[in-house]
Amino acid sequence: MRRRMSWPLARWSALAALVVAAAAVAVPSAHAAPALLSQGHPVTASSVENTVFPATSAVDGDPGTRWSSVAADPQWLQVDLGGPHVLTQVVLQWEAAYASAFTIQASADGSQWSTVYSTTTGTGGTQTLPVSGNGRYVRLTATQRATQWGVSLWEFQVFGDGTAQACGTANAALRQPPSASSVQSDAFPASAAFDGDAGTRWSSLAADPQWLQVDLGSARPVCGVDLIWETAYARAYTIQLSTNGTQWTTAATITTGAGGTEHPAVSGTARYVRMNATQRATQWGDSLWEFAVHTSDSAPPTTTPTNPGGCPWVGSTAPVADRVNQLMAVMTAQQKIKVLHGNGATGPYIGNTDAVPELCIPALGLQDGPAGVGDGLDGVTQFPAPVSAAATWDTALINRYGTAMGQEFAGKGVDIALGPTLNIVRDPRWGRDFETYSEDPHLAGQVATATVQGIQSQGVMAQAKHAAAYNVEAGASRGTPSDNVIIDDRTLREIYLPAFQTVASQGQVASMMCAYNQINGVPACQSSGVLNTAIKQDANWNGFVGSDWGSATGGPTQLANGGLDMEMPGGAFFGQALLDAVTRGEVTQARVDDMVRRVLTQMFRFGVFDRARRGTPASVVTNPANVTTARDVAAAGSVLLKNNGVLPLTAATVKSIALSGGDGIDPQNIGGGSAKVNPSPVAVNPINGIKARAGSGVTVSYVDGAGEHVQTPNIPAAVAQAQAADVAVVFASYGESETQDLDTIDLQFQQNQLIDAVATANPRTIVVLNTGSAVTMPWLGKVAAVIEGWYPGQENGNAVAALLYGDVNPSGKLPVSFPKQIADLPTANVQQFPGANDRIEYSEGMNVGYRSYDARNIEPLFPFGFGLSYTTFGFSNLVVSPQGTNGTATVTATVTNTGTRAGADVVQLYLGQPTANGEPPKQLRGFRKVQLAPGQSQTVTFAVTPRDLAHWTGSWTTNAGQYRVYVGDSSRNVPLSATLNVS
Ligand code: BGC
Repeated sequence: MRRRMSWPLARWSALAALVVAAAAVAVPSAHAAPALLSQGHPVTASSVENTVFPATSAVDGDPGTRWSSVAADPQWLQVDLGGPHVLTQVVLQWEAAYASAFTIQASADGSQWSTVYSTTTGTGGTQTLPVSGNGRYVRLTATQRATQWGVSLWEFQVFGDGTAQACGTANAALRQPPSASSVQSDAFPASAAFDGDAGTRWSSLAADPQWLQVDLGSARPVCGVDLIWETAYARAYTIQLSTNGTQWTTAATITTGAGGTEHPAVSGTARYVRMNATQRATQWGDSLWEFAVHTSDSAPPTTTPTNPGGCPWVGSTAPVADRVNQLMAVMTAQQKIKVLHGNGATGPYIGNTDAVPELCIPALGLQDGPAGVGDGLDGVTQFPAPVSAAATWDTALINRYGTAMGQEFAGKGVDIALGPTLNIVRDPRWGRDFETYSEDPHLAGQVATATVQGIQSQGVMAQAKHAAAYNVEAGASRGTPSDNVIIDDRTLREIYLPAFQTVASQGQVASMMCAYNQINGVPACQSSGVLNTAIKQDANWNGFVGSDWGSATGGPTQLANGGLDMEMPGGAFFGQALLDAVTRGEVTQARVDDMVRRVLTQMFRFGVFDRARRGTPASVVTNPANVTTARDVAAAGSVLLKNNGVLPLTAATVKSIALSGGDGIDPQNIGGGSAKVNPSPVAVNPINGIKARAGSGVTVSYVDGAGEHVQTPNIPAAVAQAQAADVAVVFASYGESETQDLDTIDLQFQQNQLIDAVATANPRTIVVLNTGSAVTMPWLGKVAAVIEGWYPGQENGNAVAALLYGDVNPSGKLPVSFPKQIADLPTANVQQFPGANDRIEYSEGMNVGYRSYDARNIEPLFPFGFGLSYTTFGFSNLVVSPQGTNGTATVTATVTNTGTRAGADVVQLYLGQPTANGEPPKQLRGFRKVQLAPGQSQTVTFAVTPRDLAHWTGSWTTNAGQYRVYVGDSSRNVPLSATLNVS
């Protein structure tokens, strides 16, 4: 790691002088003969009388053809000169139908206008009007007609002085959103090159190529850049320009860079400007004190309205619905579709919409994902994976987790957080199990709701994903026919949709993402039954549905009518194609308005119109409180699966600890794909966490035996070390990632052999697992204790140490069942998972997870809901009160801490329906995490609603009969049960 170079005062003042000099350099505009700029250029008009009189006739150089408007005021004609110019004169050749009052305006960007000529005593005929101004767009607006007809021009001619507009001195990149290929460390963010402070700098990693980019906010005529290099400069680099952040043109190529301050000549229209360094001049990375961009437009575009009435919906205290109506009343069709699709750019966020500046509609930034701010951004907290949050069963803590994540998204300037993922864990081999919650829809719905409420409390919209029945990566063939889920309606309604409905109705989530897969042959993003009926209608939800990246397929008609409201990341279907579909009569205007209304409603609700963006991708947003939350969730979500008494460790008896397994040093803290989050400032590994907690009186030794991250097994060394120690701890894992499923849930790379050998050597062996879902444990009988830590995020080591020593009493419960072997899975055959012949058969129906183990009477390795504590709990006093007039019954039960330590248990309520209803044997309908001192009792109350007792028969049906009520602390430990008579 290189160190920051010192910067002597003398060089500082030299630099300051350079900055001033650079700012003063401006290309002078030479005097030249008037030049006709408008002829043949693109032109638009408010209206045309009919197709015989198009707008183009006014700029075609032929005074025998003309533009003519409809007979109404006001009317306008606008020409795009193709680039910025100094304007000197406008000539109007009126037909008989002339305007008696009109203005001429110029604009750099087509949205912010300045008036260069104005009259209320227009004469008609040929008017030669001297103007003084500059811009790329010139508009004539006629406010009063002199005749009963419209307004009509034979020719509309704009003249300039023949030179492009002078290059401005202002820095258009100042404090604009930056991004960079990499940063050397948090001390050198991309934003430092755009902060106007030549004493702070961006610095990249020491590798080629490296780039630094800025978003000017809108397309602008770029005429120069200044680069102020630190000692670590680039010898070869290009300056690239882009209007969309995706396609780049090279505007300057430098192969003999000399560092210091450089002013490569560039010109072109760009919103994004990038310095792309291909060869470093030193052994270090590339580093810039400042990167300034100059433009030739007169004023920097802002979101100042040009709408004649201003933007009264901004900052207004009127109800959201009124503000939406007020705005929609003035929106054109083109303006409407802008809020319905991404602009295809990959920066500044992973998803971006364009602003509509003339209506003060801000751009939206969307960023992954479910475990915190992802997509490679730094300066964020790496929280535990969502499965860990689910395993806490603690909605208050999960709300804190969501709030901390929301705060970090807000601090990065994100409007929409792409999460949570709440798909059902149908099979432990799905590559995305770690980034979702549970095999149970009730638990998933409650965890998602708590997370969403936390995120959204920070003014960030959450986008719950992926609706629906997306439970296989299917070899990454996403969005293809092989992702075709074959599922019956009852299973869809009872297992795969309820969590989405809960997060809509109870969580009030702002948006949802539709999935890549098909549902019975219909792409999920076109599935009206799911999106329109089950989610929008049945859950009474007014949020909007966004597509996954590329999951919008087919056509605008199928998608819009199927319930999709916003396309991401581009606008193949919801741009012009959507308007064309409206013209063809395939999509109603009412539906388009509904789409727009849904998006705008959430934007107003979350204050997007009323505040400036709260940060940039480069902002550092992690903080100690959030790191504490990450640690608390990691500890509370860890599940103690076995303990023969070896835990908790005590200082009195444990003087030496032998650690082994690759995850001790290089742990699986998070999974891969869009849910991956970087740690900041550092991740604490188990070795360091345990050493710090154990203190100097304890010998902590480590052998990097077999593991995911260390693939060179050193079993003999681990055995020797374990033999000599008071206790042995082995760390083992498997990794999961989006786009790939697992073939097996057996530990790989000889990790099972390592655990077995260490346990043979030392009976006081504790296994700590970091897996995204269930894992097999052939050595279970030999080891003294097992902790499932999931993917615990950056506080891994501190959380594990706290659990091992009993500073935190384990209280996590499995949100998924652990089978003894793959063959026991309800989805064991290949037609079910990952699918075959373009079908993924959900033939197990509602028997997912514990529902299936119960139905088939197969004993799992560890049941759903299970987890041990260092204390013990007892259950008593089950009381089931009959249904009240609204159909709701009440269940109460008492839980007691029967041990000697304070601890928490999760009281779980399961219901069993009469056999004739054809439901799984029992289903979770309520849970409550209860913290108890030794000897303390608490009575918990659950409301059992008609919906809790219902099953799907085309609608929710509650049959009369005897229902079973079970209370306990796992799906297989329900010491209390009773009957509820439903009439
Ligand atoms: C994933 C989404 C993610 C999106 C944007 C997709 O491939 O399925 O979950 O939000 O990419 O990164």
